[in-house]
Amino acid sequence: MSNEQGPVAVITGAASGIGRGLAEHAAKQGMRLVLADLDAPGLQALCDELQAGGAQAMACVTDVADPAQVERLRDRAVEHFGGVDWLFNNAGVMQTGYSWEITQAQWQRMINVNLCSVINGIRSFVPLFLRQGRAAHVINTASLAGLVSSPLMAPYNVTKQAVVALSETLHYELTMLGAPVSVSVLCPGPVASEIMASNQVVDTAGTSFSQLLDSTIRQGMTPTELAVQVFVAVAENRFWIFPHKGFKPALERRVQSILEETNPQFQMTDIEEDSHAAR
Ligand SMILES: NC(=O)c1ccc[n+]([C@@H]2O[C@H](COP(=O)([O-])OP(=O)(O)OC[C@H]3O[C@@H](n4cnc5c(N)ncnc54)[C@H](O)[C@@H]3O)[C@@H](O)[C@H]2O)c1
Repeated sequence: MSNEQGPVAVITGAASGIGRGLAEHAAKQGMRLVLADLDAPGLQALCDELQAGGAQAMACVTDVADPAQVERLRDRAVEHFGGVDWLFNNAGVMQTGYSWEITQAQWQRMINVNLCSVINGIRSFVPLFLRQGRAAHVINTASLAGLVSSPLMAPYNVTKQAVVALSETLHYELTMLGAPVSVSVLCPGPVASEIMASNQVVDTAGTSFSQLLDSTIRQGMTPTELAVQVFVAVAENRFWIFPHKGFKPALERRVQSILEETNPQFQMTDIEEDSHAAR
């Protein structure tokens, strides 16, 4: 593959929100794009729009929870562009409600889409990156929920904290090997997107919390602003990407409670802090 044509980025969850913002920004940087999502019409519309703007882009309808479909995504990217340079494991969904009210199927959906998708991406693409032997980047979208837990969003906290742990482990492993593959974990606060449309109502507590989250997210940072920060961080090979900084006192309290062995305490203002910091 010739880099004169621009590096190739695979972006999952590209049809909406953060993924769409990343795709639009990547196209402006001259990258060639492999766009993946479950939403076939949304994906095709984005692909057409980027191509009309002069970008080289292909759409590949993919359920990232299915390992075989993610392997097919890698194969199609290699067939089309000859290789891949950046992988954004970005697709994700939301579920609110009391931990015990969320059904087994809802828990499983969250684990499959938010966590197994990242495992599938790593298992399919990292061996390709190692074979290619040139610089490559894996960018996993976690969340501030990957660092600090809030009540009424257990499957989201659980899967995003697992994505952070997976990303750290992958970073250690690739560093041990001296591989030219860098890893970043993106932990945004509120970003204006459609994620709350994926929330499945289970109980009244989850519903009212969902309404609060929805309004916080609607007032969040734009995906375009977020994408600019992500690309700067990747260019600087930064592992932690924190577009919102308002969570740090909450993280500090959490670490302190672990070190001092005191009981964790949640403050509702932590969510509001992030929303103010986003504006
Ligand atoms: N919006 C926020 O405030 C926020 C904050 C922190 C982290 N995140 C994370 O950002 C990522 C992107 O979410 P968003 O906010 O842009 O939401 P979004 O709903 O606007 O976009 C998510 C995209 O993922 C796609 N998707 C869902 N399930 C899929 C599957 N199984 N296979 C392929 N594609 C699938 C959807 O069709 C959608 O296009 C998620 O991982 C989310 O958890 C979002």
